[in-house]
Amino acid sequence: MARLKTGVLISGRGTNLQALLDACADPDFPAEIVSVIANKAGAQGLERARKAGVKASFLDHTLYEAREDFERELDERLREDGAEFVALAGFMRILTPWFVDKWRDRLINIHPSLLPAFKGVHTHDRALESGVRIHGATVHYVRPEMDDGPIIGQAAVPVLAGDTPDRLAARVLEAEHALYPACLRLVAQGKARVTAGLVRQDKDFGASETDALFNPTA
Ligand code: GRF
Repeated sequence: MARLKTGVLISGRGTNLQALLDACADPDFPAEIVSVIANKAGAQGLERARKAGVKASFLDHTLYEAREDFERELDERLREDGAEFVALAGFMRILTPWFVDKWRDRLINIHPSLLPAFKGVHTHDRALESGVRIHGATVHYVRPEMDDGPIIGQAAVPVLAGDTPDRLAARVLEAEHALYPACLRLVAQGKARVTAGLVRQDKDFGASETDALFNPTA
């Protein structure tokens, strides 16, 4: 079985990267991680990659005057490492349309809300302020607009009485760790292709109906 060669871009602690590394440690998992690149020198995720025997490197965006110059280097390094697909896992840098279009439908992201609600930052505070009863996380293909793009999978997490942003964030993060590998699996199996702007997980893609609504807390 050919495994989907995946590069992961990170900026920090890398717990989602860890979930992907753990899933990919199983030789039967349909994807493998061939490269981890951080734009922050001390990113904890770089150590996680090294421990898993995956090539880890640091690319300092502050050395480049234009965003696109940084991204050209990023693109080159991903290709050198053999990546054919890219997963963003807490990569705190907005990507330009140049990079996003170059990797169109081969670039995914995880966002800590049920998109299209709560795009941007501080999603858990905003969820609590808005009074929603169900919060969660989304894995989606990346488009040039922030936190936009065809949705691959979502994990629902209930908001509980007495929740603080930190408590809610911790439960959402746990759900993310199940959601991200599940979505990478779907993509690598060819079950989450984009058709007319959406991932339609109908019978044509061989996905079961429950694949589309992923709820690891249920
Ligand atoms: C996660 O909450 C993810 O949804 C968001 O950034 C955070 C990254 O956390 N995009 P980690 O670095 O994977 O622990």
